[in-house]
Amino acid sequence: MATLIRGTLVHTPSLGEVKILQDYLLGIDDKGFINFLENASSDAAQTLLSESGAPPTIIPPGSFILPTFCDLHLHAPQFLYQGTGLHLPLMEWLNEYAFKAEEKIDADPLLARKVYTRLADRLSENGTGAVLLFGTIKEETNIILAECMRQTGIRAFVGKLSMDQCSRPTYVEASASAAIDSVKSFILRCNTLEGHLPLHQRLIEPVLTPRFVPTCSDELLSQLGRLSTENNLRIQSHMAEAHDQVEWVRQQRNMEDIDVFDKHGLLTPRTIQAHCTFLDQPMFNRVVTRGTAIAHCPLSNAYFSAEPFPLREALDTGVRVGLGTDIAGGYDVSIMSTMRHAVTVSRMREGGRIMADSRERSKDGREVTNKPLSVDWKEALYLATRGGAEALGLQSGVFRPGAPFDAQQINIIENTTKLAVGPLDFLDGENIRILQELSPEAIEKWFCLGDVRNRIKMWIQGKVVLLKP
Ligand code: GUN
Ligand code: FE
Repeated sequence: MATLIRGTLVHTPSLGEVKILQDYLLGIDDKGFINFLENASSDAAQTLLSESGAPPTIIPPGSFILPTFCDLHLHAPQFLYQGTGLHLPLMEWLNEYAFKAEEKIDADPLLARKVYTRLADRLSENGTGAVLLFGTIKEETNIILAECMRQTGIRAFVGKLSMDQCSRPTYVEASASAAIDSVKSFILRCNTLEGHLPLHQRLIEPVLTPRFVPTCSDELLSQLGRLSTENNLRIQSHMAEAHDQVEWVRQQRNMEDIDVFDKHGLLTPRTIQAHCTFLDQPMFNRVVTRGTAIAHCPLSNAYFSAEPFPLREALDTGVRVGLGTDIAGGYDVSIMSTMRHAVTVSRMREGGRIMADSRERSKDGREVTNKPLSVDWKEALYLATRGGAEALGLQSGVFRPGAPFDAQQINIIENTTKLAVGPLDFLDGENIRILQELSPEAIEKWFCLGDVRNRIKMWIQGKVVLLKP
């Protein structure tokens, strides 16, 4: 037994279920896996406490431990221009902003290191413990990205972009075979970064990343499909994201995105597809059959997709879904903001459903009740933690023996002053009671209002990677 932690734990073992485990004892072995989890007053916990040489780390009243967040979709080089240029439709925005910024980063390793170091710091400050990244075309720049993520100690899945057509003439790979040679070389180099470490200490992994259908030839896509199958490599891309993009693919190939990916063996249980806004019910069924997961990026959808993602339908169909910030299509690096956006967008959809039902009813007097479309904060918290981890096939995102201890400490009330932390105000006794007891209302209040000020510590694989004074 390497470490013991005693205090309140909060997690979401399944969709919609928030469990508040008051005064629990959690043991972490010397490889960073949870090996004990019981109420601190249980006989087993008391025995462990008395046999343990060192006292447990105490999580004080008013604070709790939560699994770290998972960001399933983020363009690292676009962090350079985060929060600008969002007035254009997607295909124009890519030409005007994304490709130019990525090319600039590929041309300037010092700038790349600066941008990626700051990004890594922002991710850990915001409680993101695992991130699935889109990089750039150039091998070397993606190694810099992997190194910067390694330095912060968070889990990072790094995607060197593959794209051999329909981009700026100066930002595109020369051919499918050149693209494949380059990605193979990147994978070898990326794996070498941690090749000397035992498995549990390896936190960086290369991912095959065909950018999206328009910029990839059939030859490139089919070779990537083969490479993934032969080497059990993860895949990420964008699928059915935006109105103008879907139209582009129809004109370019006379096909739907999903059929293109499927044809080339790129819809697998190792695949995470961003957006999927324009999938219909039979397509969601196919996504489930293939075992592919979806990165839901609500803020980016609001700018680029023309329609909201049918989150409720995807979840009800059994699709594995997590959340993505889609920097810089979404301007906010925080998964806390993303989970709130997921709730907000779904509530607008539900409002639309209620109004449409009522119009139908008044038209022909028929009773119309279509299925509700909203998700609540408990479901969104699941998507931000366990949902994302499950989409990546990780054991984390939930507290249970055998899972890696990837966690963040959230401070709601400062233990010495008894004042609420950061943006959480309490102005009467009832508020104080709710917050202090870490009731579901306290967690909900933090879900809605909390920010980086409430996060004081983060562990990945049992190791402390963030500690605020
Ligand atoms: N589709 C292809 N590339 C991109 C990108 O960089 N951002 C977004 N949001 N969609 C894309
Ligand atoms: Fe994206």
